[in-house]
Amino acid sequence: SITHVILTGGVGSRLWPLSRKSRPKQYLEIFEGKSLFEMTVERNSHLANKVMVVGNVDNHQLSGKVMDKTNTSYVNIIEATPRNTAAAIAFAAFASNPDDILIITPSDHIIDQMENYNQAISEAVSKANEGFIVTFGVIPTKPETGYGYIEADGDNVISFREKPNETTAKEFIAKGNFLWNSGMFCFKANVLLEELKKFQPDVYEKSKTVWEGSKDGFLDLDLSMEIPSISIDYAVMERSKKIKVVPASFSWSDLGSFESVYDYLNSKGHLTDANGNMVIGCDKHTTFLGLKNTIFVYTETANLILQKENSQDVKDIYSELEKQN
Ligand code: GDD
Ligand code: MG
Repeated sequence: SITHVILTGGVGSRLWPLSRKSRPKQYLEIFEGKSLFEMTVERNSHLANKVMVVGNVDNHQLSGKVMDKTNTSYVNIIEATPRNTAAAIAFAAFASNPDDILIITPSDHIIDQMENYNQAISEAVSKANEGFIVTFGVIPTKPETGYGYIEADGDNVISFREKPNETTAKEFIAKGNFLWNSGMFCFKANVLLEELKKFQPDVYEKSKTVWEGSKDGFLDLDLSMEIPSISIDYAVMERSKKIKVVPASFSWSDLGSFESVYDYLNSKGHLTDANGNMVIGCDKHTTFLGLKNTIFVYTETANLILQKENSQDVKDIYSELEKQN
């Protein structure tokens, strides 16, 4: 049996004010009336026979609405507090049969070229059946420091390096055999759990305790706080010898920051002016004078004007500002 596991824990703070605590970016209906979350559900609906959503108390109703809208029955795992992706994935694995194949996806990616996507998933599923933990490798276009890197030799993974610094990322790009980790994974539930137990026994044991104490999918807050907060990339991918990589030959973009939204919209023909300035969120004519690579983000309740290069800094103002809302 194949289960699609949707991780939907993040708030998307680098996309404030488009993304708010009450409505994280993956639920914004900004793509022809659909949200990234809904597109994620649809993209995988024919690839799996079961769906699991690992979210939290702040967003499970938003997820529920989409599942109703798309008529999808699902297993709902509701975290009391985010404990990062190692724990979130462990809960999904504990909720599965040992031999179930899990396809883990985030809920906030844009993916095109469905034939290639379907092909990549089917390759991944067959490698997962052989007992491997499968990653999807994207051909890198710049020394991005917000991603994991996969050192590949065919489908073998020589090493996995999460979020390198800029100097290291540049070295990786120069070497030519490094791919970006897409953030999607595929494996048998018990294979992942065995590796987690081996490399992060504390995360394994405490997540197990939390899962065993869950009621109707709701997880206990106090017990959850005991789980070390670590991502699956550091916890397992950097250490396991069972990792394989499948080429992500589909088009992939992680709309993590305004710079990536800008690049994505640009590739879709959303115009900038002659100096690279862009308006996001409104159709009103807007003039930029004496400005270059400036992004104007318009929402009904708040605006943001930023230099494209400052996209990663948005999360710093987010927490301060959300307190006032
Ligand atoms: N349920 C749940 N609980 N989901 C979570 C939690 C949590 O505690 N923390 C994060 N998530 C969800 C996020 O909402 C997102 O969908 C996904 O898990 C990945 O988390 P991110 O926080 O977005 O990770 P990242 O972008 O820094 O890095 C990952 O993705 C990159 C590609 O986008 C890594 O896998 C990198 O290696 C990868 O390159
Ligand atoms: Mg991300």
